[in-house]
Amino acid sequence: MAEKSFKYVIIGGGVSAGYAAREFCKQGVKVSYSKLVFLLFLQVAPYERPALSKAYLFPEGTARLPGFHVCVGSGGERLLPEWYKEKGIELILSTEIVKADLAGKTLVSAAGEIFKYHILIIATGSTVIKLTDFGVQGADAKNILYLREIDDADKLVEAIKEKKNGKAVIVGGGYIGLELSAALRINNIDVTMVYPEPWCMPRLFTAGIAAFYEGYYANKGVKIVKGTVAVGFNADSNGEVKEVKLKDGRVLEADIVVVGVGGRPLTTLFKGQVEEEKGGIKTDAFFKTSISDVYAVGDVATFPLKLYNDIRRVEHVDHARKSAEQAVKAIKSNEEGKTIDVYDYLPFFYSRSFDLSWQFYGDNVGDAVLFGDNDPASPKPKFGSYWIKDGKVVGVFLEGGTPDENKAIAKVARVQPPVENLDVLTKEGLSFACKI
Ligand code: FDA
Ligand code: NAD
Repeated sequence: MAEKSFKYVIIGGGVSAGYAAREFCKQGVKVSYSKLVFLLFLQVAPYERPALSKAYLFPEGTARLPGFHVCVGSGGERLLPEWYKEKGIELILSTEIVKADLAGKTLVSAAGEIFKYHILIIATGSTVIKLTDFGVQGADAKNILYLREIDDADKLVEAIKEKKNGKAVIVGGGYIGLELSAALRINNIDVTMVYPEPWCMPRLFTAGIAAFYEGYYANKGVKIVKGTVAVGFNADSNGEVKEVKLKDGRVLEADIVVVGVGGRPLTTLFKGQVEEEKGGIKTDAFFKTSISDVYAVGDVATFPLKLYNDIRRVEHVDHARKSAEQAVKAIKSNEEGKTIDVYDYLPFFYSRSFDLSWQFYGDNVGDAVLFGDNDPASPKPKFGSYWIKDGKVVGVFLEGGTPDENKAIAKVARVQPPVENLDVLTKEGLSFACKI
């Protein structure tokens, strides 16, 4: 079987892989003697995944490739497939790696090709958790859809067209649940969300924050069923989903079901070969794993979060981009006998749906105080929350912020100013952040 050797191999063709490629070029990798390669499942060059749950599904102002190839998401140049060619980077598309031998520095594809490398960056990201994984009855019916890759988004677009003005049930109240409910509603689909928790996005939102979004979604016509889960599905004679059976006994009609019940980092290929922690591949502050010459970035990396003296895994795009850049800088500096600063990440998450847009920086631990206008019926709602731990602000959330206000909350989360009186902080609201 064909064998190819490369100096650097990135396994994965998602966000962090694309940003790593750009960083290799920025660092002046001499491609003539040190070829870089990507290995992908996909048909296409790396793109900004966040577009898939937003503008890709909109009826107007629709996003399509090549419009959102990396690195446009962070305001950079768009890396079109030609870019990789020009830079001497080989994109090996539609190739799944099925075996990784880290000791032997060898990868094997599903077609049996062998890839040798000197340095490996693992950027395999996450896969969706499926209801079929738990054996939920009828969960393999047609039109029960998930969203991770562009093919999944295409299936959703098709279903929206085919089931015009139909009914959708969204299973899950996290990121996918909230962004997809909005996208389907904008397409005039009748939407019901179902999730087990007492409020949406419990990983981040407090009850107060969630109450705003639940109210806003309700005003847009989205129905919300909380405190229960989907336990089965009924299909018609074509095998297409028709009903969602809930644990509490209710049955919901559905032409489309979208499931967003979380992601799972793709580490299986490396099991037993590399140290893992918190579900991911353990790295140092340069994204180096326990195996020499092997780095892990993006969703799969469990890394030291210096700011909180903790070890975390982060499933968001900003970290995917920055961890990739840090790993490549570390690789280059190592080769040149130099050192670089440790990764000092400030967690940053965001989302957009309907006319809403929020940003969060820092850590959502400690006491939370809500401030601002969080009336879902307000023409221009602007509100937020501070999280206070050990007398310091450690996290800030803001809905409807201007670019300057968002910069201000990022600064607060980084600086961690002291707070003596939570009532005063509530009253000061956003002006507290703007004066830091
Ligand atoms: P990513 O998933 O981007 O890429 C992994 C790649 O590896 C894929 O191309 C996969 O096919 C490939 N791969 C895996 N195993 C392989 C194998 N064995 N062989 C070959 N290739 C393999 N975040 C945020 O902060 N704001 C947002 O708005 C959004 N929006 C959003 C929408 C949707 C629909 C999703 C699914 C996710 C988001 N995210 C987000 C999360 C963000 O996109 C995510 O954290 C990053 O894409 C992670 O980047 P990675 O490079 O780690 O994985
Ligand atoms: P998530 O972890 O955000 O939410 C999962 C949700 O699933 C939980 O909040 C819960 O409500 C629900 N849930 C769990 N088990 C359930 C069950 N049996 N029945 C019904 N509901 C159940 O995960 P997600 O929304 O699926 O997102 C997947 C990945 O994509 C994550 O890594 C996420 O960070 C990423 N993503 C991020 C963004 C963003 O940052 N704006 C947008 C889209 C996706």
